[in-house]
Amino acid sequence: MAPIPQGGTVAVTGSAGFIGGWVVRQLLDEGYRVRACVRDTNDEDKAGFLKAMPGYASGRLTLHSANLDEAGCFDDIFKGCHGVAHLSHVSTYDDLDYVKKVCDHVINSVNQSETVNRVIVTSSIAAVISEQDIQELVRRPVLYEDRYPDEQNPKRLPERGQGYSMGKVLAERAFADAAEASGRWDAITCCPGDNVGPIQSAHQKNGGPWQHHIETMLLGKYTQNVIGAYRAWYTVDVRDVAEAHIRMLESVNVDNGERFIAWSTETRNVEDVCASIDRLLPELGFAGAELIDPLPESVQAREAEFRAIWGGCELRNDRIRETLDMDFRPLDVSIRDCVESLLSVAKIEPVKN
Ligand SMILES: NC(=O)c1ccc[n+]([C@@H]2O[C@H](COP(=O)([O-])OP(=O)(O)OC[C@H]3O[C@@H](n4cnc5c(N)ncnc54)[C@H](OP(=O)(O)O)[C@@H]3O)[C@@H](O)[C@H]2O)c1
Repeated sequence: MAPIPQGGTVAVTGSAGFIGGWVVRQLLDEGYRVRACVRDTNDEDKAGFLKAMPGYASGRLTLHSANLDEAGCFDDIFKGCHGVAHLSHVSTYDDLDYVKKVCDHVINSVNQSETVNRVIVTSSIAAVISEQDIQELVRRPVLYEDRYPDEQNPKRLPERGQGYSMGKVLAERAFADAAEASGRWDAITCCPGDNVGPIQSAHQKNGGPWQHHIETMLLGKYTQNVIGAYRAWYTVDVRDVAEAHIRMLESVNVDNGERFIAWSTETRNVEDVCASIDRLLPELGFAGAELIDPLPESVQAREAEFRAIWGGCELRNDRIRETLDMDFRPLDVSIRDCVESLLSVAKIEPVKN
């Protein structure tokens, strides 16, 4: 079990995605060889921006089609790799047997490779903070790596909206257990916060969802945060999350099963994110946008209570700062760069005064 060597070869699943695309770019910038895994290398709308990276022209970056729903899909791709950054989503988080099955597809390919030393498993802050009973955040308000959602709550079920966080916790453990059993490689978990920052390809405006929310603001209407009713955005720049993945691949100070939350600890209510656009880019002449609250009336009636609970939470990032020596960009920079990329890359036309 070891960090990857400088200039070694890394496979990145979910390379066409918002975060995966930045992991690919930064790995190349730091001198690595990259095998970018996408579902369809011929889908120019999604894979075109990867082919435009300079490393593709020389062959230091190669693209590979793989659908993780198919067993063995990574067998050939992982052979000869030193590291894997596993960023891709899965087809559904609500069927936990399916989630376990596709984890095993990736794990079996790692085992068969005989060369992979380290896997970074991209989880989420949902696997830290997503509570079926919001009062649990009052009882345990410090949000740090050793905090898990209350798994004893009998209502914590996919059908009640907990599939994503349950699937992520399951995946974290499946990889750590498999790594332990192998004795050959280790699995380190990254739990990113709400990613804001520049998109590299127009299709990424639809993902996130945070960059998509900024797109809807630019178009004149946006919604209250329903992922945690009335929760402020718990933010991180997508480029910092990419850097965190690379530092985890390289670090000699991490242990199998260890998890790192990647967020800056800077928070902002959605209304203030929208207001930031004109403050940061007055030249744009952005007219502002209308806020829609799609939450049920019973939840709307408790808005002040929910805001107070979220506001009472304490976000911590000591571990990633100390172990990986990470710094984080200010949210203003992430919002500015996100807006400018939506205009220049996705050709969004904002509502103007
Ligand atoms: N964005 C955030 O704020 C955030 C926060 C916390 C955690 N995360 C986690 O970070 C990871 C990346 O997120 P993201 O925002 O970059 O997502 P994204 O832009 O939606 O990209 C995810 C990628 O997953 C791939 N994918 C989905 N199903 C697949 C399958 N069956 N087989 C192979 N590939 C599949 C897609 O590949 P194709 O495009 O090739 O079809 C897609 O490009 C995810 O695991 C997510 O849960 C994200």
